[in-house]
Amino acid sequence: MKPILVTAALPYANGPVHIGHLAGCYIPADVFVRYMRLKGEDVKFICGSDEHGVPITIKAKAEGISPQQVVDKYHKMMGDSFAEFGISFDIYSRTSNKKHHETASGFFKQLYDTGKFTEQVTEQYYDEEAKQFLADRYIEGTCPKCGNEKAYGDQCENCGSSLSPSDLINPRSKLSGSKPVMRETKHWFLPLNDYAPWLREYILVGHKNDWKPNVYGQCKSWLDAGDGLQPRAMTRDLDWGVPVPIPGAEGKVLYVWFDAPIGYISATRELLPDKWEHYWKNPDSRLIHFIGKDNIVFHCIIFPAILKAHGGYVVPENVPANEFLNLEGDKISTSRNWAVWLHEYLNDFPGKQDVLRYTLIATAPGNKRQRFYLA
Ligand code: 2FM
Ligand code: ZN
Repeated sequence: MKPILVTAALPYANGPVHIGHLAGCYIPADVFVRYMRLKGEDVKFICGSDEHGVPITIKAKAEGISPQQVVDKYHKMMGDSFAEFGISFDIYSRTSNKKHHETASGFFKQLYDTGKFTEQVTEQYYDEEAKQFLADRYIEGTCPKCGNEKAYGDQCENCGSSLSPSDLINPRSKLSGSKPVMRETKHWFLPLNDYAPWLREYILVGHKNDWKPNVYGQCKSWLDAGDGLQPRAMTRDLDWGVPVPIPGAEGKVLYVWFDAPIGYISATRELLPDKWEHYWKNPDSRLIHFIGKDNIVFHCIIFPAILKAHGGYVVPENVPANEFLNLEGDKISTSRNWAVWLHEYLNDFPGKQDVLRYTLIATAPGNKRQRFYLA
């Protein structure tokens, strides 16, 4: 019997769970796992909170509390909601715990020691008042395409353009409001371009017929892009995260999209200290990642490249990603507070978890946006 490891995306611990999370990722994964258990398969179901990265530090600033307080608060809330709605994880862990720090740090160290990274010094915006480098989301300015004065360093939400911080006109730091200056900083990059031939074989040849068209299509457009895959920095200048475990990297942390997927491995180690390799290192093992569609590139391209660079691990057999759920025709959004939060649903409809589960399964999103109207 082949081992099956099912993961559901580790949600950022920066807010409560809403029905869009359930519909797009956690219920489909739960249905699949329950079916596999009924068939008597050797299956494990892994999840936990993603507690690093800028989404957490931004929330901490907004709430006037520390990042640790943010993740403690929302890890508890999210774990409770999943349990109340019967999402039957074998473990719901978290990436701020010691086991995860050790695992992610060890992974990075192995890649560094075997020469898998390139070092590059680049210029990045620095806030001289707050005395820190600014993540893209901490920089605001005028969009060069549409003139929106509140565009972010990575994206303009008004016209949808994807931007880099140096594209912004009149950049401002969201930390202090001051004008940031360019400063040099060193980072460690994974040369994704070196993995392109392998990724093409793995995805475009190997999974042409069994990955969902939306997932396969997005991968294909990344792999076919004119300028190809680019090296990607696996470290960041931030004071919250897993410290970079090599000399000369003081004050830097691992890129959250490096450490978070490794969280699936750490959580499996925590659940099965003596048997985790049976799911991760056995060539017969079937690794399946349930995710929301905004996470496709990270799970289909970046994480497999990280696993391949390390060696010895299986790579995902499938990455089912669903479309987003709409609410009264409008996209669900945490930042615009347009959502049905699970803890509020439970207040209004106590004991009616299965009604919601049934409705979300019966109307599960295919390739179109899912419509969902609350009576
Ligand atoms: O989109 C998100 O909420 C991310 N925290 C998902 C991470 S999935 C995995 F890599 F851990
Ligand atoms: Zn714009």
